[in-house]
Amino acid sequence: MSAADVKPIALYVHWPWCVRKCPYCDFNSHAIGSGADEAGYIRALLKDIDAAVALSGRRPVSSVFFGGGTPSLMSVAGFETLMNGLRERLPFAEDAEITLEANPGTHEAARFAGYVANGVNRFSIGVQSFNDERLKALGRIHDRRQALQAVETALKHVDNINLDVMYALPGQSMDGAVEDARTAVASGATHLSFYELTIEEGTAFYKREPAGLPDNDTAAEMGETVASILAQAGFEHYEVSGYAKPGHRCRHNLNYWTFGDYIGVGAGAHGKITTKGGILRTERRANPQLYMDDAANGRFAAQLSFVLAESLPFEFMLNVLRLYDGVPVSLWEEATGLSFDVIGKTVDALRGEGLLAKDPQRLVCTPLGRNWLSTVQERFLADNEL
Ligand SMILES: C[S@@+](CC[C@H](N)C(=O)[O-])C[C@H]1O[C@@H](n2cnc3c(N)ncnc32)[C@H](O)[C@@H]1O
Ligand code: SF4
Repeated sequence: MSAADVKPIALYVHWPWCVRKCPYCDFNSHAIGSGADEAGYIRALLKDIDAAVALSGRRPVSSVFFGGGTPSLMSVAGFETLMNGLRERLPFAEDAEITLEANPGTHEAARFAGYVANGVNRFSIGVQSFNDERLKALGRIHDRRQALQAVETALKHVDNINLDVMYALPGQSMDGAVEDARTAVASGATHLSFYELTIEEGTAFYKREPAGLPDNDTAAEMGETVASILAQAGFEHYEVSGYAKPGHRCRHNLNYWTFGDYIGVGAGAHGKITTKGGILRTERRANPQLYMDDAANGRFAAQLSFVLAESLPFEFMLNVLRLYDGVPVSLWEEATGLSFDVIGKTVDALRGEGLLAKDPQRLVCTPLGRNWLSTVQERFLADNEL
């Protein structure tokens, strides 16, 4: 077994159903309608993980993320079957971070204890806003009271929780964004993900833009104001949208942002596995029913493709430059197997322009580079060197 085989790996498990589809959401999530075939889906996930492990090898799992969709719709009995099946197939690190995404506003708060009994040690709660009018405009099924209740319940069971909050919402004023940031800080969460609402193609908001969206300048100002409130409250801004109390950075996401390997199982899930032949990307079939049909018929529901060497500079920078501390320069060679010369000229040019820091040991944006992040990343596209 080579050294790459025993490096820890992260595991992402996708749950593709929600109570209702939100009008802004372009994730692979579907209204649950008359119900999901939970047992069938869990059986498919376990077959899927067998296929994934055949590719990755039995590497120790350093983090698991149950994302969606709304994985907290899963029954505790179903979750227990799934966790037992995963543990049979892969060795878990003793201190593995195990996160489950949970939506306020359904009855699943009562299940938090059951998830924790089966290994969950971190919840990520989709609060979005603490303002009832904003929540209504977002088509959410919960209100402020239920959001606060979900946080309180989660904190009774684990001491590590993330809240997803969005800003630049329809009808939101600066005061509204400030109020949401202050409430998030006061909630006791150890990690906050603050996203600017984006209008994604294919969503209901894209077809019909909601009234009262803040303009770009106001949205940017809201982002800066939120960041300063969170910083004053002791949250480290360590990634574009990520803020953590010291010692509470999300290990699962840090693995993505440091270009680590991960297994992705479930409908539409993506994976990245370093093999002897190169870096392999995997993508599962997105439609939940077709995904389950494939698994039931013994078909492997994934497309596989090797990342071309010429795509690696951009793919690598797309991840690592999101980190406000950046990464050591040595990570490039370690993660890609390619020499620094491949990116050296572009790195030097960006350092000269003040967009990357001049520190020879690190790849990291300057504050100016962070403002132009996508432009900086695009400079690493194969046809756009220098
Ligand atoms: C995978 S989603 C699902 C989490 C969970 N189901 C929920 O909605 O509560 C993760 C997060 O992405 C964010 N998100 C989804 N669509 C977005 C959009 N169009 N713009 C900005 N953030 C978005 C939301 O904050 C959401 O909680
Ligand atoms: S935002 Fe969350 S709850 Fe809403 S549709 Fe997307 S995944 Fe489901």
